[in-house]
Amino acid sequence: MAKVKNIYVCTDCGGQSPKWQGQCAHCQCWNTLVETVIDPASASVNRFGLVPTSAKLQRLSEVHAREETRMSSGVAEFDRVLGGGLVPGGVVLIGGDPGIGKSTLLLQSLAAMGSKRKVLYVSGEESAQQIALRAKRLALDAHEVHVLAEINLEKVQSILLEEKPEVAVIDSIQTLYSPALSSAPGSVAQVRECAAQLTRVAKSGSTTIILVGHVTKEGALAGPRVLEHMVDTVLYFEGDTHSSFRLVRAFKNRYGAVNELGVFAMTEKGLKGVSNPSALFLSQHTGQVAGSCVVVTQEGSRPLLVEIQALVDEAHAPNPRRLSVGLEQNRLALLLAVLHRHAGIACYDQDVFINAVGGVRISEPAADLAVLMAVVSSLKNKPLPAKLVVFGEVGLAGEVRPVQRGQERLKEAAKLGFTHAMIPKSNQPKQSIEGLTVIAVDRIEEAVVKFRDAFA
Ligand SMILES: Nc1ncnc2c1ncn2[C@@H]1O[C@H](COP(=O)(O)OP(=O)(O)OP(=O)(O)O)[C@@H](O)[C@H]1O
Ligand SMILES: [Mg+2]
Repeated sequence: MAKVKNIYVCTDCGGQSPKWQGQCAHCQCWNTLVETVIDPASASVNRFGLVPTSAKLQRLSEVHAREETRMSSGVAEFDRVLGGGLVPGGVVLIGGDPGIGKSTLLLQSLAAMGSKRKVLYVSGEESAQQIALRAKRLALDAHEVHVLAEINLEKVQSILLEEKPEVAVIDSIQTLYSPALSSAPGSVAQVRECAAQLTRVAKSGSTTIILVGHVTKEGALAGPRVLEHMVDTVLYFEGDTHSSFRLVRAFKNRYGAVNELGVFAMTEKGLKGVSNPSALFLSQHTGQVAGSCVVVTQEGSRPLLVEIQALVDEAHAPNPRRLSVGLEQNRLALLLAVLHRHAGIACYDQDVFINAVGGVRISEPAADLAVLMAVVSSLKNKPLPAKLVVFGEVGLAGEVRPVQRGQERLKEAAKLGFTHAMIPKSNQPKQSIEGLTVIAVDRIEEAVVKFRDAFA
């Protein structure tokens, strides 16, 4: 058999070099060379060509497409983010902070599936005993879950091909290593190689593979970006480790909608799905407080009510601070500028802190108006009216723009007992919603005036 050869390939220009160098000799980029295997035995196979190829042309109508049957993962909220369940032969990557509950969720899911199908848990981080201990602590019926504590890619691959489990979890992709490469496990070359090989196993048989991925300090998935392209679905676990709520968000999904959200509560007995999470992120104030405003965000198909808190306090340093938790920091600076320019409310001598309660991360601009209302409320030290929800995007020209699915958001707010809603004019419902008084605004200055009227 021909010898396996390693070369170094530039990730920028694709230039090759026989040995590692700091600078690519072809494009002069620094630190872009990554070790790659040239395997003559499989030279005819594109290493990252993940699907077995056939050399003849086919019409799509001639391709036999099986009715796509999804398998339930056994955990309802997990199914929801996956877009209805696992797809046979699909590859799912799930990332998240250390200790957030990735292994817990996947063990629960495998245990639930175990009675119906053959499932395998490959762990490079914990021994079989530790997994058994966790299953015992979570009181799971995990008799049928096969476990394998192994980090050698070739061994894992051969077991997958031999045993043909329907679902296999690899915990985690960073601990796997391919002996064909000399770089350390967890390095870019290793992660890419292992993911490519496993993806090929998944696509050739019909094993569904779930990869657990670590995240970097910045919160991105550790490993090359190309990893996210190789897999079918990318999920992120997020949430505040200090609170018990955990969110699983779809970031990419070839077989379903993204931005679907699974909500869990971490309990002693593992992760429990929260099927009606809309009121989860409202804090329970006994009286009314200044600087608090409730926004209705839309996460996938579900509206979610989140309390936004703002604290505006006199700055004692020449540069006032702007800090936001759960919302985008740059957006805050932009919104404060809009508030100054169009509504004449200045915060340049004030520190501004904002926080989305409960560790949720709000990425949609629909929270803009609520952020500004919370800031104004804190600055004036006047609480907003009780039972008020606010949503709407604020543009640089001071206009309040409409958001998607306004009607649904309003209905959810009414369901939870809110009586007033400040919304963009274009989102005004044609028919009134029972129990809800709608205050429609067109511009930010109008919103501020309406706010002032509330205290007149
Ligand atoms: N006895 C317990 N009671 C309640 N919660 C527990 C208990 N033991 C562990 N946990 C919870 O389980 C979490 C660990 O979950 P898990 O090991 O699944 O995380 P992980 O995402 O796989 O982490 P890593 O990336 O380190 O493997 C802990 O952070 C803790 O919140
Ligand atoms: Mg783990």
